[in-house]
Amino acid sequence: MAVFPFDIHAREGKARTGVLRTPRGDIRTPAFMPVGTAGTVKGVYMDQVKGTGADIILGNTYHLMLRPGAERVKKLGGLHKFGGWSGPILTDSGGFQVWSLSKLRKMSEAGVEFQSHLDGSRHMLSPERSIEIQADLLGADISMQLDECTAFPSTHEQAKSSMELSLRWGRRSLEAFGERESQTLFAIVQGSTFPDLREKSAISSRTEGAAGGYGGYAIGGLAVGEGHEMMCEVLDFTTLHLPEDRPRYLMGVGKPIDLVEAVARGVDMFDCVIPTRSGRHGQVWTDTGPYNIKRAEFSEDESPLDETISCEASNAYSKAYVHHLVRSKEMLGGMILSWHNIAYFEDLMARIRSAIFEQRFEAFVEEFRKNWRG
Ligand code: GUN
Repeated sequence: MAVFPFDIHAREGKARTGVLRTPRGDIRTPAFMPVGTAGTVKGVYMDQVKGTGADIILGNTYHLMLRPGAERVKKLGGLHKFGGWSGPILTDSGGFQVWSLSKLRKMSEAGVEFQSHLDGSRHMLSPERSIEIQADLLGADISMQLDECTAFPSTHEQAKSSMELSLRWGRRSLEAFGERESQTLFAIVQGSTFPDLREKSAISSRTEGAAGGYGGYAIGGLAVGEGHEMMCEVLDFTTLHLPEDRPRYLMGVGKPIDLVEAVARGVDMFDCVIPTRSGRHGQVWTDTGPYNIKRAEFSEDESPLDETISCEASNAYSKAYVHHLVRSKEMLGGMILSWHNIAYFEDLMARIRSAIFEQRFEAFVEEFRKNWRG
């Protein structure tokens, strides 16, 4: 397995900024990955996504295996060609989406059997099949091990057996992944909110693999109802046990304040549907939190969404126009807001990277906390 070079350029406290070098391009960290679930970042063209400064996008095994089918994507040239994104792609392994979307699911040592949320058809996802889909068929640059996202709340006993299952699935994922020149595999640390389980999961994962472990380490099982404070606490005692020289990825997170707090605790990568999903519902993200463009006060507001961001969506349309589009249920409204929100998230990451590089991240975090009202 390739382990992509990860150059850390500056550190401040636990925060780091650097570059993860992949054969398809550099990923500047801390990085935010827009979610391209089904081969599309919903409502936003790939060149617009690129224009926001995103270096990498995320794709989903679960959705793509069901429709159009992973073998079909392979036949059509792989996910990069199919979706028109030439930069790096990270794919999630499917377990989490089965957990959150599918109807019937049956977990066993072998894997997870589930019924499609689309047509009720039955499918089996094993660690081996997930790797085959991600790495061989979709052609992901970064694949994720199959894991079980432990429900919150869970007892220590439940969280332990779930975490141990993810560890065993991780070993099988590594084995199935084998030697690859230009693709890498990330582990997923589970253990719910229990320090001893997070430690065991992190330490066991980092000692796996004949050729020096995984290419990176994700933290899963968060943003599942534990709340912001608890999430921060879990990050505090989890990143402690992760290798310093490998990227750390907090899965499915989050709001701008979550990103800032997680970077302060040593996280390098994020993904979240918030910019696009909430954009489709009229939400606009800012440093003080989100607001809804449908509010009456914007009906004649000629100012742009955000003139400080160099993105057409942020500064070429008036709030009054986007207000009108969203109220009229015109699809362009959701498209402009999704594009703007991704630009806002990418701009925030760029400001975070500069702040760490210039050794003023602590002040940045303090200011951000002070302004945040979300
Ligand atoms: N996305 C958000 N949380 C998780 C998780 O715990 N596991 C996986 N595979 N994906 C996620």
